[in-house]
Amino acid sequence: MQSVQNTGTHYDALMMREQRTTLFFSVREKIGALDECLHALKAANVSMTRIESRPSKSVVPGYDFFVDIDAQTKEVVQKVIEEIKKVDIVRDVRYVSSLEALKTAVSSTEQVPWFPRKLSDLDTFAEKVLEMGEELSSDHPGAQDPVYRQRRLEIVQKAKAYRTGQPLPRIEYTQEEKDTWKQVYTRLHAMYPKYACREFLHVFPLLEQNCAYGPNEIPQIEDISNFLKDCTGFTLRPVMGLLTPRDFLNSLAFRVFHSTQYIRHHSNPYYTPEPDCCHELLGHVPLFADPNFAELAQEIGLASLGASDEDIEKLATIFWFTAEFGLCREETHIRAYGAGLLSSFGELEYALSESPEKRSFDPSMTALQKYPITEYQPVYFVADSFRDATSKLREFNMTMKRPFQVRYNPYTQAVEVLDSKDKIQHFARSISSEMQLLAGALESI
Ligand SMILES: [Fe+2]
Repeated sequence: MQSVQNTGTHYDALMMREQRTTLFFSVREKIGALDECLHALKAANVSMTRIESRPSKSVVPGYDFFVDIDAQTKEVVQKVIEEIKKVDIVRDVRYVSSLEALKTAVSSTEQVPWFPRKLSDLDTFAEKVLEMGEELSSDHPGAQDPVYRQRRLEIVQKAKAYRTGQPLPRIEYTQEEKDTWKQVYTRLHAMYPKYACREFLHVFPLLEQNCAYGPNEIPQIEDISNFLKDCTGFTLRPVMGLLTPRDFLNSLAFRVFHSTQYIRHHSNPYYTPEPDCCHELLGHVPLFADPNFAELAQEIGLASLGASDEDIEKLATIFWFTAEFGLCREETHIRAYGAGLLSSFGELEYALSESPEKRSFDPSMTALQKYPITEYQPVYFVADSFRDATSKLREFNMTMKRPFQVRYNPYTQAVEVLDSKDKIQHFARSISSEMQLLAGALESI
């Protein structure tokens, strides 16, 4: 057993600064083990303000605990430590600074990249964009147009300021912007019956009825987000520009899709070098209202949480060949469901012609396929259905190197890491109660 490691001035300074101490101790696995430790805290008459556990590295089987206590003096901390030491299954009692506690916790997950655990964690992405954002690249059609640049900046600033829980920004679009939308909308809308998948065609009229989709007005993402939430729980968030693949995919785990609100430059309504509201609202939005596609998208997102850079690249490639450029089989036809196709009349026609190569969607192969981003795709992947693609994706995800599994809790809108016996037991109980519900429902049919 180790005694208190830090003494004297350093300790006193720490106490004065924090008025709070984090205790660390390891406990051999035993029923009621934690109860005994908490009893020791009670005996020392201190309040506990936080407790975290993880499987122990030094006591196997066992757990490490980090417990914050509200202790004002060195004497009180020492008393707590002495009380906990009396518990015979406890090892290695000491106090650690909050920073040390954090570092220890991080090292225990072996360099797992940070990932959002709760919805408001997505706020950290608000100001992180890869390119475009507040500035435009020189080859953007609006780069030399100061009026366009100023207008785009105004819209981007609203996305930058947005935080979880606030109403989504409403944009008062100008007539010039509406005219651009109208040209894109009218041309694509006429093509959908021939080229779009049946799920897309089913949802589109609902968007016309519920979210003011039509040629004359650019729909507002607040209305769309509310509609999607009712359908599948998906919601939209405004974004300044292109997020990193990791951030973008991570948000899908929460059924959140980042949507731009500015529109392409009016000089060329049929071209944009970046995602704009035509791409998001016409290409992406309809399928987020489909339960099976929503599940596929979220599955990619969940797999991306804490994934290695190598696996993020694979998942981003899978997203590219599904949500962006995916094709699907419908009886004897092939149809488009990817947003990059459904928002581009030229590539939509090309993708469904005889010209490009079409392969069956297989995540292990699809994930490795190289692709161009500034020209039509030479290869497309065809899914049998969204459910089949999701099932294959789940199998593929099991081959990834991540040392833990996660699940999304829709009640708390948070991600749970299934890394302890307690959490896995709780998960098992929730499945059990769902199974009872399922059995009851089957019996009553
Ligand atoms: Fe996209």
